[in-house]
Amino acid sequence: MPFNTALTRKLGIRVPVVQGGMQWVGYAELASAVSNAGGLGILTALTQPTPEDLRKEIRRCRTMTKNPFGVNLTLLPALVPPDYGAYAQVIIDEGIKIVETAGNNPGPVIKQLKQAGCIVLHKCTTIRHAKSAVKLGVDFLSIDGFECAGHVGEHDITNFILLSRARQDLGVPFIASGGFADGQGLAAALALGADGINMGTRFMSTVEAPIHQKVKEAIVNAQETDTALVLRRWKNTTRLFANKVTQDALKVERESTTGEFSEIGPYVSGKRGRQVFLNGDVDFGVWTAGQVIGLIHDIPTCAVLLNRIEKEAQEAMKRSQSLYTDAPASKL
Ligand SMILES: Cc1cc2nc3c(=O)[nH]c(=O)nc-3n(C[C@H](O)[C@H](O)[C@H](O)COP(=O)(O)O)c2cc1C
Repeated sequence: MPFNTALTRKLGIRVPVVQGGMQWVGYAELASAVSNAGGLGILTALTQPTPEDLRKEIRRCRTMTKNPFGVNLTLLPALVPPDYGAYAQVIIDEGIKIVETAGNNPGPVIKQLKQAGCIVLHKCTTIRHAKSAVKLGVDFLSIDGFECAGHVGEHDITNFILLSRARQDLGVPFIASGGFADGQGLAAALALGADGINMGTRFMSTVEAPIHQKVKEAIVNAQETDTALVLRRWKNTTRLFANKVTQDALKVERESTTGEFSEIGPYVSGKRGRQVFLNGDVDFGVWTAGQVIGLIHDIPTCAVLLNRIEKEAQEAMKRSQSLYTDAPASKL
């Protein structure tokens, strides 16, 4: 029996699994592979240096899949912010119907996308931000628990609490993000009230992820204890793979007497992190990974991964069902 959730129905996908936006990973190779496998693949807008490059990437992705795919637009504080409106306009002009938004002050961009008729999935780490996004008219919330890779927020609430709070309070369908790698996780998310899951780190370790093989192998060899939180002191807490540069950055964070961001800036530079994905030297710079890294033991194709997740979820749901019986206890 195929899945039938608000997410599969609205997005027109077979498996309720979204591949979240990933800076320097979310290229057409990965997004199309996930969509071809029955999930929702997502291109990362800001991985493209200009809106025109994003237009080319969207067109390239269209040649690689006939299935729906989306674009992630992440709004982060920056000295010179990218022209978010122009990226959003390219997304609209190219006929993209599904957009994942994330980050600060998403109001203007969400308004622009909704006016153009896009389905918006907004990713956030608190119920307060989720409620603001509901007011902006988003179609789905993507609830990112403390387990997740990247920006975890400042409240450290794991998905066991966050997802149930979402079910109790939001009144809008939501997907569970952070800490998911298998069908048992998907079944658990559905049981908690979600309509699907969003995965980042798990998709990095797939054949089609356009990153160096050595990074994929580092993910397979890592444990759930191999991530660390940096930048808490600057209220921009980020979960990273706990390599040497991350440890050095944490030392600066602990020991800096000035608290000037410029002291830690060179350690957490995105430019060096990008090189890791290209040259495979996992200690060359910082890179993002979630605690789910401890649940990833192989490098499958996206098709193998999503078929497996589908089967595991079905089996997990059957198992849960089998644990309840109408027969009176005396007859068992
Ligand atoms: C390498 C990497 C880069 C990411 N970059 C972004 C990004 O640019 N924008 C965004 O909204 N989320 C980004 N994320 C977060 C993912 O979309 C997703 O929310 C997160 O990975 C979920 O947690 P998980 O890794 O436990 O599955 C990134 C995650 C990873 C692993």
